[in-house]
Amino acid sequence: MAASAALYLNPAAPVEQRVDDLLSRMTLEEKIGQMNQCVGVEHFRNNMGALTEEDLKTNTANAFYPGMMPDDLLTWTEEGKIGSFLHVLTLEEANRLQQHAMKSRLGIPLIFGIDAIHGNANAPDNTVYPTNIGLACTFDTVLARRIAAETAREMRAMNMHWTFNPNVEVARDPRWGRCGETFGEDPWLVALMGRMQVQGYQGDFGPENVLACIKHFVGGSQPVNGTNGAPCDVSERTLRELFFPPFREGVKAGAGSLMTSHNEVNGYPAHTNSWLMTDVMRGEWDFAGFIVSDWDDIEHVHDLHHTAESDKEAFRQAIMAGMDMHMHGPEWNEAVLELVQEGAVPESRIDESVRRILEAKFRLGLFENPYADEARSMEIRLCDAHRATALDAARRSIVLLKNDGVLPLQRGKHRRILVTGINADDENILGDWSASQRPENVVTLLEGLREADPDCEFVFVDQGWDPRNMDPAAVDRAVAAAADADLIICAAGEYMMRHRWTERTCGEDTDRSDIALVGLQSELIRRLAATGRPLVTVLINGRPLGVEQEAELSNALIEAWEPGMTGGTALAEIIYGDVNPSGRLAITVPRSVGQVQMVYNHKPSAYFHPVAVTPSTPLYPFGYGLGYTTFSISNLRVLTPEVAAGEPARVEVDVTNTGERAGRETVQLYLRDEYSSATRPVKELCGFSLVDLEPGECKTVSFTVSPEAMSILDARHNPVIEPGRFIIMAGNSSADESLLKSSFNVK
Ligand code: GLC
Repeated sequence: MAASAALYLNPAAPVEQRVDDLLSRMTLEEKIGQMNQCVGVEHFRNNMGALTEEDLKTNTANAFYPGMMPDDLLTWTEEGKIGSFLHVLTLEEANRLQQHAMKSRLGIPLIFGIDAIHGNANAPDNTVYPTNIGLACTFDTVLARRIAAETAREMRAMNMHWTFNPNVEVARDPRWGRCGETFGEDPWLVALMGRMQVQGYQGDFGPENVLACIKHFVGGSQPVNGTNGAPCDVSERTLRELFFPPFREGVKAGAGSLMTSHNEVNGYPAHTNSWLMTDVMRGEWDFAGFIVSDWDDIEHVHDLHHTAESDKEAFRQAIMAGMDMHMHGPEWNEAVLELVQEGAVPESRIDESVRRILEAKFRLGLFENPYADEARSMEIRLCDAHRATALDAARRSIVLLKNDGVLPLQRGKHRRILVTGINADDENILGDWSASQRPENVVTLLEGLREADPDCEFVFVDQGWDPRNMDPAAVDRAVAAAADADLIICAAGEYMMRHRWTERTCGEDTDRSDIALVGLQSELIRRLAATGRPLVTVLINGRPLGVEQEAELSNALIEAWEPGMTGGTALAEIIYGDVNPSGRLAITVPRSVGQVQMVYNHKPSAYFHPVAVTPSTPLYPFGYGLGYTTFSISNLRVLTPEVAAGEPARVEVDVTNTGERAGRETVQLYLRDEYSSATRPVKELCGFSLVDLEPGECKTVSFTVSPEAMSILDARHNPVIEPGRFIIMAGNSSADESLLKSSFNVK
């Protein structure tokens, strides 16, 4: 039958039938092609000259294919050998590649994937929101969904169809460079944020929706030595209690894809781990989407983990364990064709993967809308509504950690303010997973301050962007300039911009053996403080930083994380009090790397013997954050003193604004199963509520404690709710001294 009348091209036909019809027409080579992803032509061209073949072995962000030319990818696309591209950074290239795909024998469109982690930030001319750690500090899951939905709109306006987000890993180690890409250390908050982002991205799979990708499955956020891709060696109990829940929630939300993690999990690489990909994902959770490898990680099963003696054997193991799509490159096609021809991989297994991939393409409407409209693209990308959301998110993601009263500043009070530090006037405010954006679209801290208070003279002493190579003379200049300033604002932190891949100190593949400030930053802060001028220190960073001394020396300390393109405006509004900061830490800030692992939801025996010499408490605890007003949380009431197992409990608490100005409190509820058959954390977040209050206003907050929050895993890892007393705690951080306590019983 002529292709034009073919059932699979009929948008009115059920997706299932379109998949069956198309699959029946495909050759084995075309099927294998759908399972292969390659880097874009321009990415290839740019890296041909920049990288050596040796570099390719460890670089996880840039590549080319030795022995090929960039335009060979166009031919491969027309021959149906490539089903997806990543690192295509312009609409023009995406549409051009798609034209080649539509010339293929069956006209199967490409699906373009991209790391749109906080907006489609990794490509130019898109709205850049705060990164996930900052978004988590808003505790606003509705905002998370809105940002995902807006990101999806901007992606489709650039002909991108699939984001490699939400990262739903549970951060447990600040040495790891990707904490900023996660929603923090609490599995329940991570799960909620991840679920809402999947909903935001995928919506009803309309023309302004994209496929989500929950990643990385599993355990890469607790690497044995803090480095990305290092082994995760934890018990099955820890996997199921801590790392699985956000993925299970993402599957329940209907995530269309999942990405496996670089690391081995208890001796078996995630990429060839049939227990994870098939038994758990498919068997326990009914995951219906497709599984994509991470960058060259199937090849690493051979050349790094050494559990396959060749790439071809690694491909066989991965496919048979449940892998559906290969990221990335041309070695895949021939090797997998041989595997099928040799009978090592049944064609029926290939069909399973191709079905999942084709279903996503049909559901996204790619056969009907393979291109994006170049004329309309910039009507959507960077539109005012999205910029406003980015600013709203930046304002609420910022956490005020210390304030001796120096903040908020009063306009007119200071005639000259010194601004310095590596992050005072740099695009690094965009954060990890960001391409450079047009300067007119990025507001740095210095620019934000000058806009906020035009009558004040802001003296800027540049410390450069590179913490490793700061100039002592620039430090001297800042100290000298402080003598003539009324107040100092120093923007410190880390460097995350990916176009300076090897100069970064935080971000993907940029892990550290320390969490102190890099370079002369601490000396700068020490000497600035010694001038006696009030000092406001701002941090722009992805991982928590052990800034105990710097905090001590500063009159105020603001944790801005990676606030995105409106970060300078949001920071200035907070510094001047136009905005009352409301961020609360979604991750513990240790005093030093020696305290790691330091998390709030630790087991009871974790500090039975506190360390000698130094404190065993964090610098700032999970859930903590200050503002310009004060709140009192009082009168915790348990409405259900006794519940049957499987019934929810209900509690209420009052929160009052006891200060002089309106503000938002994030009332947090924690739970502890007092006695249980297996050890349980001393507390676990089981509820939170964002409460906006006028001065003097009091509201009652009601919480429902779900049966899931009360359940634990028995010896066979089956969820059970054991009878007994449950301690319930309410407060404005996880610190014991800030929590009201009560209890209820489960019969
Ligand atoms: C990287 C990251 C992964 C990302 C992928 C594509 O290795 O681990 O999160 O989605 O490559 O950029």
